[in-house]
Parts: sequence; C-alpha cells; structure tokens
Amino acid sequence: MQLVRSFVALGPLLTATSAAFTATEIFSFTPSNPVFIENLFVLPDNRILLTHFGGPGPDSPLYVLNQTSGTVSVVASLPNSTAQTGIAALGGSKYAITTGVLGANFEFVNGSVAAHIISLAPGSGTATLLDTIPIPDTISTNGLVALPAAGSNSRHILLSADSRGFRLLKINTATRTASVAFADPLFGGNPNITQSIGITGVNGLNLRPGKRWDGYVYFTNSARGIYGRVQVDSAGDKVGSGAAQVVSTIATPPGQENFFDDLAVTRFGHGYVAWQTDKLVRIDGATGAQTMVLGPGVPGAGVALRYPTSVKLGLSGREVYVATGGIDASGNMLGGQVVKVTF
Ligand SMILES: *[C@@H]1O[C@H](CO)[C@@H](O)[C@H](O)[C@H]1NC(C)=O
Ligand SMILES: *[C@@H]1O[C@H](CO)[C@@H](O)[C@H](O)[C@H]1NC(C)=O
Ligand SMILES: *[C@@H]1O[C@H](CO)[C@@H](O)[C@H](O)[C@H]1NC(C)=O
Ligand SMILES: *[C@@H]1O[C@H](CO)[C@@H](O)[C@H](O)[C@H]1NC(C)=O
Repeated sequence: MQLVRSFVALGPLLTATSAAFTATEIFSFTPSNPVFIENLFVLPDNRILLTHFGGPGPDSPLYVLNQTSGTVSVVASLPNSTAQTGIAALGGSKYAITTGVLGANFEFVNGSVAAHIISLAPGSGTATLLDTIPIPDTISTNGLVALPAAGSNSRHILLSADSRGFRLLKINTATRTASVAFADPLFGGNPNITQSIGITGVNGLNLRPGKRWDGYVYFTNSARGIYGRVQVDSAGDKVGSGAAQVVSTIATPPGQENFFDDLAVTRFGHGYVAWQTDKLVRIDGATGAQTMVLGPGVPGAGVALRYPTSVKLGLSGREVYVATGGIDASGNMLGGQVVKVTF
C-alpha cells in the first residue's frame, strides 16, 4: 500500500509545513503469529533487526526482516529472556540488544535484565552471541544508544532508559559493567496520571547519527508528554550541572491512549516520534513545531498504524521505519507492522 501525503495541522501546537511524506507498509506479522514489535534497527545491508515483547522463553528469538524478500527470520536466541527492548550498533558488525524476563506492567523481573552482544555480518543469516552483560537492580531498560568515541569507529559506552527509575543507565561493554549514569526529574513518570501509563517516564533514546552527533541524547517521556534532550559527554555522563530540556510537548494531556513512545532523530536534528496509539509526528529540532506524518485525519491516510512503538532512521537518511505492536483501534492483536516513511 502506498500513498503520497501532505501535511495537516492538528491543534494549536502543530504547525503546517510543505513537507510531503510517502508511507508504505513493508511487512506485517499475521494474526496467527501476532508478534508485538518493540523496537527496530536498520542494518548496513538494509535488513532490519526487530525486537519484540512477550515471546517464547527461556531464550527469546531475535528477528531480522529482509526488505527485498519481505520475510522475517530468526538470527539469534537471546538467553534467559522473554522480552527485548533497544538495539545499538557498536561498530564492526557488533550490536547490543537489551532483554529481560517480562513481569507485570511491561516491566522486567529484577535481576533478569541483560545486554547481549552479537556479531552479525552483512548478508549473514546467523548471528553469533559474543557476550551477555548483566544489568542488576532495574526493572526497565527501554531504548538504547551507543555513544560515539573520538577517533574510533567502535563504541563501547551504551545508555539505556530506565522508564521506572527517573534515570539513565550506563553499560560499558569493555569492562562488562552496568551502572546508573544520572537521574533527572524529566526522566520520571507522572503521579498525576492514575492510569498505568503514569509510571512510564523516559521511553526511548536516540542520537543525531554519525558525525552529526551534537552531544545530546534525545528522549521521549510518555507520562509527561515530552520530547526532550540532555547533553552528555562521550563517557555517558551529564555535562556539568546541565538539566534535561523540553524541546516539544504533546498537544493534549497524555493518557493511556495518548502518549509519546520511541523516537528517531535525523542528521539535521529533527525528531520522528511514535505517538500511541496510531500516529507518527515530526518534531522540528530548532522550533519544536510538530507536523503530523501519519494518523487518523491526516489527509489520504492509507497506512493505519496499529500501536506504533518505535521509529528508526533508514540508510539514506531520507526515510524512517516505524514498527508497531500490532494492536488495532478495537484492541485486536493483529501482529506488528513495519512501515517505511520517506521524506
Ligand atoms: C541464565 O540463567 C541461569 C539461571 O539464573 C544462569 O545459570 C545462566 O548462567 C544464565 N545464562 C546466561 C547465558 O546468562
Ligand atoms: C534477501 O532476499 C533476497 C530476495 O529473496 C535474497 O536474494 C537475499 O539473499 C536475501 N538476503 C539475505 C541476507 O538473506
Ligand atoms: C532489585 O533487587 C535488589 C535485591 O533484592 C534490591 O536491592 C533492589 O532494590 C531491586 N531494585 C529494583 C529496581 O527493584
Ligand atoms: C502534578 O500536578 C501538580 C498540581 O497541579 C503540579 O504542580 C505538578 O507539576 C504535576 N506534576 C507533573 C509531573 O506534571
């Protein structure tokens, strides 16, 4: 399914632009195998790694989507996990994936959380599990970035979002240690929201790609309805006393069926945010202005997002891929989608 889309303004905070978007659903799991896709990552060979929630244990399958054939296969089993979250590239065909054993409320069982390091060569159908680094004392690792290291293509400092703990976690793949990077009020939940989304704070992390990194980690916070950023050094520590900053705020108060999920940032610093339960929004990096890209009421909408969980940049830098959990407006679990949006 393919369509050409122009902008729409929705509410006073959303600004119209002349940008046009083309959206295509390139893959969907089926109701007979209704995988809930949690996050995704576009590999250098244009295949897409897919993480998911609530799959079979004790070793959850890691999926890869071949865009040419439109098929998904299993490239690895990640030990001791039933749910997978963020994916980050470490350089040299190595990737980190965070996992845990799923408990209640989209939380992990304390003590089950880990970062797995895999090697997956371009074109290869099988990944090698190189290492499993435990991440103690957390029930949430939700989104993952690898920080660029000066003068090197390999990265070994990872930051992950702890949606429950008002904090970012740091994983050092060289020393195989995990620790708290730093906390900030803007990473926490919102006690004013009594629905279960109220306990979900920071819900995704992303960086401007490659050499365009601007020293900020961009994030969303679901319960507070914000898209923001915080400045860090290459060791993953907060720069000076700098607090996290709000770049843009959700148009209507967040709730169970209206919250920002994961995000992607382009090389020009613009954000693309998965907006639950059925939208994708672009956020201008300079002004914070929001433009609806996909969603009900957007003219010509032909791709209906079913619970969009995550967004990641494609190889050309002129497209993003959106993954969904697969739940439609009536609450039916139909299977997660992957939707390509070019701009
Ligand atoms: C999986 O968990 C079991 C029980 O906690 C532990 O003995 C084993 O070492 C774990 N495996 C890996 C690869 O972490
Ligand atoms: C992806 O699918 C295409 C078309 O079927 C095939 O030629 C190619 O080998 C596949 N790539 C991988 C890595 O399996
Ligand atoms: C995880 O379990 C340890 C050991 O029981 C406990 O000290 C810690 O507070 C727990 N952390 C969280 C985030 O629940
Ligand atoms: C919760 O509500 C109180 C009272 O209106 C307000 O002061 C506070 O900022 C709110 N907290 C959040 C996280 O929005």
